[in-house]
Amino acid sequence: MSKPKLSVVVTRRLPEAVETRLTELFNVALRADDTPMTRAELSEAIKTADVLVPTLTDDIDSALIGQAGDRLKLIANYGAGVDHIDVATARQRGILVSNTPGVLTDDTADMTMALLLAVLRRIPEGLSVMQNDTWEGWAPTALLGGRVGGRRLGILGMGRIGQAVARRAAAFGMQVHYHNRRRLRPETEEELEATYWESLDQMVARMDVISVNCPATPSTFHLMNARRLKLMKPEAVIVNTSRGEVIDENALTRMLRANEIAGAGLDVYEHGTQVNPRLRELSNVVLLPHMGSATREGRLEMGEKVIINIKTFDDGHRPPDQVVP
Ligand code: DGY
Repeated sequence: MSKPKLSVVVTRRLPEAVETRLTELFNVALRADDTPMTRAELSEAIKTADVLVPTLTDDIDSALIGQAGDRLKLIANYGAGVDHIDVATARQRGILVSNTPGVLTDDTADMTMALLLAVLRRIPEGLSVMQNDTWEGWAPTALLGGRVGGRRLGILGMGRIGQAVARRAAAFGMQVHYHNRRRLRPETEEELEATYWESLDQMVARMDVISVNCPATPSTFHLMNARRLKLMKPEAVIVNTSRGEVIDENALTRMLRANEIAGAGLDVYEHGTQVNPRLRELSNVVLLPHMGSATREGRLEMGEKVIINIKTFDDGHRPPDQVVP
């Protein structure tokens, strides 16, 4: 007799091919529309499912995990970041957590470079000239940005994505520097031509561009706080494609308004969709709606990872992308 299919609750609409494959393999409850689940719906899901597939828009905190039924054995996150999941509480309850690392590295690194280029070369300002039909022709001093090549890039967080940014930046002729909890192996540093800074303060004070690529954890919360932002050179810019909580958004906004920092390119915000309205008013910032991993290919590969994690677990093994607190 074949064993019963796992009951899997998916909290958001996923690409069609991913939903189809999930439905073939498991007993899946899919959303009718693409809205995040309410707290009540999450609470119901966590009580009845064997496996929950959340995304970063779901707050899977300790109170919610505390309501999990005996059935829930795996939280297979559709995404790499797990800062919205209380992994330690899940572990205490014997619930495994997995994520989808690796498949969104290049896409997020591409978006980091896109933001960096957009801020330094004033692309949104050029776009608005064309969209508003106010172009008066080429002029020697119009819309001058900063040259990318030769600039010093300080990468904060040298994991997979940070390293992918380093490779791209080097190809643009940038000088790559980094700060990370752990120093890279000498051969990796050499391959990336990246200079390590043990002191984040010292790195921040000397860079032309800071790129935030570290995950959100209690120890990275407001790593770029007001004091550290003030160490940046006035002509420097900051880019963030990681998590908004790493930068004190109010302090950054104040400094951008006062021209104490030259610009910012942000894909993520401290309070999710509640973006500081004053940021939106500034011409020296480029704001995107968390699009770092938003490629058709990447989102399919994230789905494939979720499926492999669930299937491997169903076959009695540890999911390959198990997250350990
Ligand atoms: C993730 O997977 O954590 C990314 O932020 C999604 O873009």
